[in-house]
Amino acid sequence: MCQPLILAIDTSCDETCAAVTQGRKVLSNVIASQINIHAKYGGVVPHLAKRAHEAKIGFVVRDGMTRSHLVTPDAVAVTVGPGLAPALEIGINYAKKLAQEWHKPLIAINHMEGHLLSSLINMEGSDPSMFISLLVSGGHTQLVFAKKIGHYQLLGQTLDDAAGEALDKLAKMLKLGYPGGPIVEELAKKGNPDSIKLPVPMQYSKDLNFSFSGLKTAAMYLIKTHDKNTSEVGTSFTSEVNFTTNLCAAFQQAIAVSLTTKLKKAIDQYQPRVILLGGGVFSNLYLRRRVRLTARPLPVFVPYAKKLFTDNAAMIGVAAYWHFLKKDFVKDIDSLDRQPSLNF
Ligand code: KG4
Ligand code: ZN
Repeated sequence: MCQPLILAIDTSCDETCAAVTQGRKVLSNVIASQINIHAKYGGVVPHLAKRAHEAKIGFVVRDGMTRSHLVTPDAVAVTVGPGLAPALEIGINYAKKLAQEWHKPLIAINHMEGHLLSSLINMEGSDPSMFISLLVSGGHTQLVFAKKIGHYQLLGQTLDDAAGEALDKLAKMLKLGYPGGPIVEELAKKGNPDSIKLPVPMQYSKDLNFSFSGLKTAAMYLIKTHDKNTSEVGTSFTSEVNFTTNLCAAFQQAIAVSLTTKLKKAIDQYQPRVILLGGGVFSNLYLRRRVRLTARPLPVFVPYAKKLFTDNAAMIGVAAYWHFLKKDFVKDIDSLDRQPSLNF
């Protein structure tokens, strides 16, 4: 049997995304980024995100369809949460309209299930089973165990800030720009991670949860003290650069220690066969290397392209494929609503 063609839409945050997928295969993957709109505010501004999604959604969907030579899909899939409510709404309403026009089933997808399955995009072979997924994005930090795809057990998550959020806040405090993750990764390459001591909250807690707000607060005090000292005694350009690069390196290292400590604990407890990584923060090569070392000898699956770590609709289409097989369709399309705090 031919695998279904799925038109997938994601407008959960600051990228307007549409993709056409067939099984795990991606036929097109279009992303209209809003980074330029939000950069000057140092973070996503919800009403500006909504307006930009409204302006772009039609073009992005048409572009995705044209690139894949698709006329009508077998189903439409859309992210219903978690995410920014006003942003989610735009994608959901557009997907509802298309599914009704074409008389095709609509599939509601959890954005985090998309990230969870993003490493399977375009991958051949059988479905993974008995796996642990570590999902680290701007809004989430989660450890999930699954005996098989679709049967997820949330093992732990952040109790306050997500790791990506903490990286974005560090960059904002250092006036480096937005999004912070990629800038911090670049600067950290030139810094010494052991030259600044930062706390790793929850490192010794028995559970599998995370916390990053204490790390952020510690960095804030260090920056304040540094600024006060330099305004009193002056500073050279080199020592300013050193402070910034060392802080970025130490911050990134503290995040790595936090993630790998809990991952190791989860591996010992659940004995998975494979680890799946997903979410924008794993664009970071240093963090991926640290996770691979921790997971050894287990295989670690990651998305095959950089743009599949951060938000995209290809991962939503691939997640929707398993729902399609189970005929897990929205029963009453008219009443489908966003679920901004949807969880596993
Ligand atoms: O998964 P994602 O695109 O959006 C959410 O669902 O939240 O993740 C965005 C997050 C941002 O916090 C961004 O700073 C972070 O991913 N990020 C990175 C890197 N690239 C993006 N963090 C660390 N290193 C990177 N290279
Ligand atoms: Zn995301």
